[in-house]
Amino acid sequence: MDHFTYRNFDLCCEQVSLRSLAADIGTPAYVYSKAALLESYRAYDDAFAEVPHVVCYSIKANANLGVLATLARAGAGADIVSGGELFRALRAGFPPSRIIFSGVGKTRDEMRDALEAEILMFNVESLSELRTLDEVARELGVRAPVALRVNPDVDPQTHPYIATGLKTSKFGIPFAQALEAYEEAASLKGVEVVGADMHIGSQLTKAAPFADAVARLASLVKALRERAIAIRTVDVGGGLGIRHREETPPTHREYAMALLPALRELGVTVLLEPGRSIVGNAGVLLTRVLYRKDTGNKKFVVIDAAMNDLIRPPLYDSYHEVRPVSEARLGGPTEKVDVVGPICESGDFLAKDRELARTEEGDLLAVMSAGAYGFAMASNYNTRPRAAEVLVDGNRYTIVRRRETYEDLVAGETTP
Ligand code: LLP
Repeated sequence: MDHFTYRNFDLCCEQVSLRSLAADIGTPAYVYSKAALLESYRAYDDAFAEVPHVVCYSIKANANLGVLATLARAGAGADIVSGGELFRALRAGFPPSRIIFSGVGKTRDEMRDALEAEILMFNVESLSELRTLDEVARELGVRAPVALRVNPDVDPQTHPYIATGLKTSKFGIPFAQALEAYEEAASLKGVEVVGADMHIGSQLTKAAPFADAVARLASLVKALRERAIAIRTVDVGGGLGIRHREETPPTHREYAMALLPALRELGVTVLLEPGRSIVGNAGVLLTRVLYRKDTGNKKFVVIDAAMNDLIRPPLYDSYHEVRPVSEARLGGPTEKVDVVGPICESGDFLAKDRELARTEEGDLLAVMSAGAYGFAMASNYNTRPRAAEVLVDGNRYTIVRRRETYEDLVAGETTP
């Protein structure tokens, strides 16, 4: 997380001190680095430069309009999974010709909106969906550009909740049924077969499962071409992991090197759907210590952020480094603590049994690597307003989402 470093004794995002940010806008707050976002996007773009490609940022990881507009302006495309994400993508300025629509449960309305917007492609995940899309497209008098998402059945070696390319998962069309599904797709008047698609999981820290899956997909593309079904695009999905602690995920270049041999040979346009690896290490959750508590059995640091702000630790057992904003704390004593929020659940923790520099009430902490699936999965549980989001650019910042108010939380509700 090179864009989060100590300068003049405080942890900073680029050149903005998190202490001064907290004083200006309060806590909890998500703080994103524009430079980090662009660096990771460009690293993908460079790594795949030798083949025609579109890096379609997976909006689900962080859908803030400020984040999206930054990537759209840099030339990225978007991977969406809902009508809401289509709305955001268009609002943020992604050209429809760079938007792809993934997901197992697209509704007719969502299909219609995406067809009317003339998006690049639908990644179709079942025959039922394919037939519905065919109908909707014919009703509109258009042909839907389609890739079938094929489940290559490889083990991505990641947390079971975020593995998607196994035989037992709900995603994609089983590899063994793919040829038949393509033949049906090729026969439909409302559908134009354009590509093949996969996504095997998230937070993958090895390149081999990606390479295995792409090799399977490449063999399918060849078999399809023998049947005169022309495949012009291959979507390799997202899933490249980030470093939280000791993981050593492949770099963008290593990832590209693992995939390119098979892709180059096919002569296709390569689509990518990265989410976490673009935004994960570009953001932190900034929070303040409310209380210290020692029960005799355990020490707790109670902070003003909670599982409603960042659910990843209890949900996936994920590790997020916790850093004091004040560099001076790093030289002091350490202690083993649970870092917990104010929510009435024992699952409300951001770090467990963690050896941390001793912090006092009022201290600021940064929960690192929180840019992906942080705010995006936040809720209003316990009627907690969702945090503010800030995008830093050099020595300036923009509040790209204001903190929710209590009025926001009840807007839309009525008493009978
Ligand atoms: N494409 C498809 C079809 C996906 O399902 C996903 C993520 C992506 C792309 C982007 O994957 P990424 O590059 O971000 O790994 N909430 C979980 C992660 C769920 C990922 C779901 N699908 C977490 O916090 O770890």
